[in-house]
Amino acid sequence: MDMRALVVDLDVPGSLRLGTAAEPQPAPHQLVLDVRHISLNRGEVAFAGSRPSGTVHGYDASGVVVHAAADGTGPAVGARVAAFGAGAWAERMAVDTTAVAEVPSRVDLADAAALPMAGITALRTLRSRSILGRRVLITGAAGGVGRYAVQLAALGGAHVIASVGSAARADGLVKLGAHEVVVGLDGIDQPVDLILDNVGGPQLAAAWELLAPGGGVQNIGWASGEPAVFAPYSLFSIGPAKTMSTFGDVHEVGPDLGTLLTFVAAGRLSPEVDWRGSWERVAEAAQALLDRRIAGKAVLDVEPAVAD
Ligand SMILES: NC(=O)c1ccc[n+]([C@@H]2O[C@H](COP(=O)([O-])OP(=O)(O)OC[C@H]3O[C@@H](n4cnc5c(N)ncnc54)[C@H](OP(=O)(O)O)[C@@H]3O)[C@@H](O)[C@H]2O)c1
Repeated sequence: MDMRALVVDLDVPGSLRLGTAAEPQPAPHQLVLDVRHISLNRGEVAFAGSRPSGTVHGYDASGVVVHAAADGTGPAVGARVAAFGAGAWAERMAVDTTAVAEVPSRVDLADAAALPMAGITALRTLRSRSILGRRVLITGAAGGVGRYAVQLAALGGAHVIASVGSAARADGLVKLGAHEVVVGLDGIDQPVDLILDNVGGPQLAAAWELLAPGGGVQNIGWASGEPAVFAPYSLFSIGPAKTMSTFGDVHEVGPDLGTLLTFVAAGRLSPEVDWRGSWERVAEAAQALLDRRIAGKAVLDVEPAVAD
């Protein structure tokens, strides 16, 4: 029998709808999760239409293990876990045991679903260099990745500069640990050592000019969708090299997901769930995310079909 799932449908606005799909067939190194909550990420929502119709979409989920992995790895049946993997937005998901982490009892399962993609991205890009006492600029700081990055950079001892698109989007960022909140790049008066860039476009080219010798940019996303034009010779500098790196490392995220959950359990990381509702309302949540109306994460509750 088929299960319910959020599937790609190129004939509906937003290219996503609640439909049905075949039950997942786990490989020996995968467990099967009874999914209770999922979260949306900008990339998945914005580019759903680039996947074939019928694809079960999404990467972030939390739930309860219903089949342990055949190879004996990973959590047992009944464990509450957060998971990262393709095909997450469904009643059941097969996922590598290396890409899950058990959810501490004091952490809400819905909060756990918010963490995987955005939290791992923030954690791993901040680990690209030592940030203790360094100046870290986070663009798109009001978003999902941004709100985790602000908190984790502050936890790591950085001087945190949070950049937002408008003054209204600055809400709550100082409380999360930002030492400065700026609109665009206005008012940044000293060089920065690390830039986590979620926005791209002309702002990225301008941010590059703020980078100290030896500093680095982590290119996380390009939410602006605009091209960046670098002035001639702006990529030349004397002294320690300035670097720009791509990011897309989602290899074996389980242990890092466990770290994020430990931080949440200890009250050191807020999951920043700003929108919560049934997965029947996916179109509404997706539109709010694209319209920059969500401060942090949108979490959807996976509900069984109502019997006729
Ligand atoms: N490389 C990877 O592995 C990876 C992983 C996760 C995410 N990403 C990408 O990283 C970016 C951030 O992800 P996210 O989940 O944090 O997204 P999000 O929650 O939607 O946040 C995006 C942020 O970008 C800012 N922004 C600036 N100009 C924008 C524009 N023209 N349109 C839309 N937003 C604009 C928004 O600022 P304001 O709120 O201040 O308006 C918003 O806070 C996305 O592009 C995503 O696809 C990449």
